[in-house]
Amino acid sequence: MRFEVLCIFPDMVKDAFQTGVTGRASGEGLISIDTVNIRDYSTNSYGSIDGYTYGGGAGMVMQCEPVYAAYCEALKRLDKKPGQVRVVYMTPVGHVFNQARAEEFAKEEELIFLCGHYEGIDERVIDEIVTDRISIGDYVLTGGEVSALVVMDAVSRLIPGVLHNDESAATESFGADGLLEYPQYTRPDVWHDKEVPKVLLSGDHLKVDQYRMREMRRVTREYRPDLYEEYMRKRGIN
Ligand code: ADE
Repeated sequence: MRFEVLCIFPDMVKDAFQTGVTGRASGEGLISIDTVNIRDYSTNSYGSIDGYTYGGGAGMVMQCEPVYAAYCEALKRLDKKPGQVRVVYMTPVGHVFNQARAEEFAKEEELIFLCGHYEGIDERVIDEIVTDRISIGDYVLTGGEVSALVVMDAVSRLIPGVLHNDESAATESFGADGLLEYPQYTRPDVWHDKEVPKVLLSGDHLKVDQYRMREMRRVTREYRPDLYEEYMRKRGIN
């Protein structure tokens, strides 16, 4: 998987990505990340890439041309033509990102991310180049870099080989049954007078599985009643 990120804080994106699992995976050549600094494509002598909002209102809007030129640079690096690579615009005005979307993106060979700032980006260039408008949740960030990192992280761990066996073996939240993951414990058996649930030390795999399933239902019901309702609905239980 090759990621190209169009943004104004390239170091922020590269530094975060070169850490931890994604850093290791890029060292192993399983994924790669490259950035295009939209500021390098200013069309004026001041080096600015934004302008006032037509129609009035607070805040500045990123102009079409610097964004488009940055997009063309990314396409050139990928040796692709317009329309051949999905362009994901990170914005609160988009589909909310989830595991299903991560799985869909992980099937691509390349992805271009467009990160906005200020009040947003001129709608015309969005219309021209963007294929997916994605939000990471119902809150507003100062820019799209952090949200692009969230999406790239979730996509990267789905690329074969990125997670090593011990990391991928765990039952995951948002797996096929749509429940959240059960709580986990490790040594020591007692810590601050708190004991590890006895069933986990019993060696009875059937009982452990049943216990974990109950816990998955309990935490999902408690923290994500929306997911729990969906889980019950799919099983025909109201
Ligand atoms: N940029 C600013 N807020 C965002 C959000 N909630 N999701 C994605 N990108 C954003």
